[in-house]
Amino acid sequence: MITQATEAVSRPRKVERLVTGKATSDGAGVKLTRVLTQPLQRRLDPFLMFDAFGSDNADDYIAGFPDHPHRGFETITYLIAGRMLHRDSAGHEGLLESGGVQWMTAGRGVVHSEIPQQAEGLMEGFQLWLNLPARDKLCQPWYRDFAREDLPRFTTGDGVEAVVIAGESHGVVGAVSRAATAPLYLDLMLPAGARFSQALPPEHNALLYVYRGELKLGDNPVPVRHMAILANAADCDGVTVQAGPATRALMIAGRPLNEAIAQHGPFVMNTEQEIRQAVADYRAGTLAG
Ligand code: CO
Repeated sequence: MITQATEAVSRPRKVERLVTGKATSDGAGVKLTRVLTQPLQRRLDPFLMFDAFGSDNADDYIAGFPDHPHRGFETITYLIAGRMLHRDSAGHEGLLESGGVQWMTAGRGVVHSEIPQQAEGLMEGFQLWLNLPARDKLCQPWYRDFAREDLPRFTTGDGVEAVVIAGESHGVVGAVSRAATAPLYLDLMLPAGARFSQALPPEHNALLYVYRGELKLGDNPVPVRHMAILANAADCDGVTVQAGPATRALMIAGRPLNEAIAQHGPFVMNTEQEIRQAVADYRAGTLAG
């Protein structure tokens, strides 16, 4: 554990918009909230999707996500509570447990399953989709599991504990870095009333998702189970949040790719022709060959 002075932010970003997302189900009937939906993909480029799931009713999650394909982007699964087994066509297998992260680069193609390994109790977590630049969309698939104790973390003088899943914060380098999109992915645990600042380049798109408690940005509250899209003003140098009660929130930011986005379900490419190719490859059994 490292104690860090807080980052200097003199002109913090404002909340542009609050989003609650849509209740939906995916996989074999897993109930979840799609917070970042398709209409927000351009606004939150390079992020394509953000799902929050959380239930202590096994019927809401038990069937999991049986074999399904992906091509053209990365999936980042962060489990707050529960146990989930991952298997994929590249021969990877891993058990994701509470506090762990699974980072998977689908690249040219992966077929995988994500199945809960519990018959009762709380299953809670998040899945984020991070786009790949056009030149890397057909790269070799890559995969890593990070157990809770493998994830870099630090505590500020204000008592805020931060897990650095990706990027860099307060001099602490996260578990994963990506040159093209420079993703920042922090899980913040703030005591009541505590403040936290993070420097951010103004052109990077950024969001906050509060999953316990409530945050304030200036005078604007971000209530629990809300995503705040943060405005990209050219003169702003970062973000400063203050907790109401004890709060947990994700801070996610990245450099936009500004490339065309063509999506068909689990395939995200740049053109319709590339999507047709992905569907044809999947049908022919060569997507993950
Ligand atoms: Co998947």
